[in-house]
Amino acid sequence: MSNQFRCVKRDLQPNEKFDLIAIMFISIDGIDGCGKSTQVQLLARWFEQRGQHALTVRDPGGTTLGESLREILLQRVEIPLGSTAEMLLFMASRAQLVEEVIEPAIAKGSHVISDRYLLSTVAYQACAGGLDPETIWRVGEIATRGTSPDRTFLLDLDPDRAFARIQSKLDRLESRGLDYMRKVREGFLEQGKRLGARLVVVDANQTPQAIHQQIISSLVSL
Ligand code: TYD
Repeated sequence: MSNQFRCVKRDLQPNEKFDLIAIMFISIDGIDGCGKSTQVQLLARWFEQRGQHALTVRDPGGTTLGESLREILLQRVEIPLGSTAEMLLFMASRAQLVEEVIEPAIAKGSHVISDRYLLSTVAYQACAGGLDPETIWRVGEIATRGTSPDRTFLLDLDPDRAFARIQSKLDRLESRGLDYMRKVREGFLEQGKRLGARLVVVDANQTPQAIHQQIISSLVSL
């Protein structure tokens, strides 16, 4: 993983004293309704304000192939999808995202913030969906070519609260219900331990601003 120390967007003014963050690949993850997409946007804006560019991507999605797969995975409920095929489609979308977008962006000196990443597949398709977690980590290693986030922020929230927040029509995964989502949450917490110090669990039962503060405190203390 590249750890260059570069300001790619603009020169800092003399009165701007903050330290630049070394180029990072960050993922923000958690169950549906935990508020991660808001945090992705807040964090990207925070980097921009410090004069550093941060590219935001979503997983699944972020490429022409990925967006097509996203539609099949989330919206096209009329297409029957077995658990292994479902897992492999999430992986295919991620493989394309890594090769086409994430690796080139990091090589150019941009931070990358991903809305979800491999840990989601382990939590959803293994811990809740019944596939073997070890297999998913192994397939994930191939799909991502070993590109893994320097930091993963896991926004942890009780699924009852999270479901109450979801305003839009439930997608294919969300419509699997509360029991499924409880297993996803447990899976995130349990399998997240595999990431060691790269995983930061944040209590998502706070205001978006408070969650954001916790995320940036963790980044500036690195
Ligand atoms: P998400 O990206 O959170 O979209 P939105 O914010 O528009 O709801 O949702 C993607 C859905 O796909 C979500 O229910 C989680 C699920 N998912 C998996 O089941 N496995 C995966 O590997 C990934 C990345 C997502």
